[in-house]
Amino acid sequence: MDRIKILIVDDELIMRESLGAWLERDGYAVTTAESGESALALLKDTLFDIVFLDIKMEGMSGLEVLEQVKQSDPEVEVVMITAYGSISTAIEAMKKGAFDYLLKPFDPDALGVLIDRIISHRRQTRENQFLRQQAREHARFESLIGQSAPMQQVFSLIRDVAPTGSTVLISGETGTGKGLVAKAIHTHSDRCEGPFVVVNCGAIPEHLMESELFGYEKGAFTDAKETKKGRLELAHGGTLFLDEIGEISMRMQIDLLRILEDRIFYRVGGTRPIEAEFRVIAATNRDLGEAIRQRRFREDLYYRLNVVAFKMPPLRERKEDIPLLADHFLQQFARETNRAVNRISRAAIDEMMLYEWPGNVRELENAIERAVVVGKGTSIEPHDLPISSAVCAEVAADKSLAEMERMHIVAVLSENAWNIARSARILGIDRSTLYSKIKRYQIRK
Ligand SMILES: Nc1ncnc2c1ncn2[C@@H]1O[C@H](COP(=O)(O)OP(=O)(O)OP(=O)(O)O)[C@@H](O)[C@H]1O
Ligand SMILES: [Mg+2]
Repeated sequence: MDRIKILIVDDELIMRESLGAWLERDGYAVTTAESGESALALLKDTLFDIVFLDIKMEGMSGLEVLEQVKQSDPEVEVVMITAYGSISTAIEAMKKGAFDYLLKPFDPDALGVLIDRIISHRRQTRENQFLRQQAREHARFESLIGQSAPMQQVFSLIRDVAPTGSTVLISGETGTGKGLVAKAIHTHSDRCEGPFVVVNCGAIPEHLMESELFGYEKGAFTDAKETKKGRLELAHGGTLFLDEIGEISMRMQIDLLRILEDRIFYRVGGTRPIEAEFRVIAATNRDLGEAIRQRRFREDLYYRLNVVAFKMPPLRERKEDIPLLADHFLQQFARETNRAVNRISRAAIDEMMLYEWPGNVRELENAIERAVVVGKGTSIEPHDLPISSAVCAEVAADKSLAEMERMHIVAVLSENAWNIARSARILGIDRSTLYSKIKRYQIRK
């Protein structure tokens, strides 16, 4: 253990020497300074644990020195040295952050007690800092943040499942972090050095799906000028992430099922069987059980994929994560945009806690990003958030959720002249999710 470093600042030589002698005898490393100015110069190069600081000195006063010391190193503990006549100043100093004061002439027993108190106080603050730090680390897993019980369960499931190589099906509403979970599983598996290949099944048009997945041979069709590897081949040795699996066609479902069973496929126009070895993670924001009942999703494929099931909890069911997430996004966007905004007001947090977040974490992320950009001050206020007005004005009690969703999408699209990117942002969903919803609900311009 390093010796505790103490700095004594007093313009009286006799005080520096007598106090210094006592402290050295008790084993502390003592340095002395005869003025505030020289003390501050010393503090620039050395980290002291405790500073004894005379209140009345020539030049800078003890109070001025105290302020500067605390500014440059808030963790150093300062003890004011004072005579009976200036106890009121000493008390003022304690309001400004001094730990305590020591009366002149000092009593060696009281000095020993005082130092012990400082040391145990410092140990306590260190421990608290450590615990806070641990709590923060505990509340995150890779880029996933969450201290709520449902998110902690997700973290521990990722830890358990990642190394097994099992096929995983992640389900959950839009914006709940399915993509991040897939990535975290890959990162914590023994294939983390291998590729992580994403296939966004909702975004690839049906007629391109085959060549995207399997690749094609040169000359297989008019545009096939070169042989091209498909995503399955590219995923060799790594993880294949089939996002929005609920969107693939019945025909592709058959192909996929076969490939998941024997892991052999052909490039489009090819005759040579290609083998690829990859782990499959799939995600969906659809209710696949419902899709199976409607015969839009094959039950056998579902069982193939659903070896390990992750259900991502919607944000409204873990509202205790909202302040943490909001703060995380605030720091991130403030840094990216160089804004001075650094906090979220109590009222804005309250507002966020009341809101239901249909677009989940993505909607929260977008709301904070917008607030950082439009906000004027250093703090985010309720009127900076797009949510208070977003609460649906016309609640139709006789409509199904799907009907309401369709109506809302139509409203946002026409409000924004069918600008897909902007509409998707407002709705708090991916562009590809918006496309697939437009397709599913057969919405037309
Ligand atoms: N727990 C979380 N901590 C931090 N960021 C999160 C968390 N969950 C989601 N996000 C962020 O929210 C956004 C949406 O996450 P993601 O794309 O993983 O959701 P999703 O469930 O895949 O949504 P969709 O079904 O619309 O594709 C991303 O920007 C992601 O970084
Ligand atoms: Mg996603």
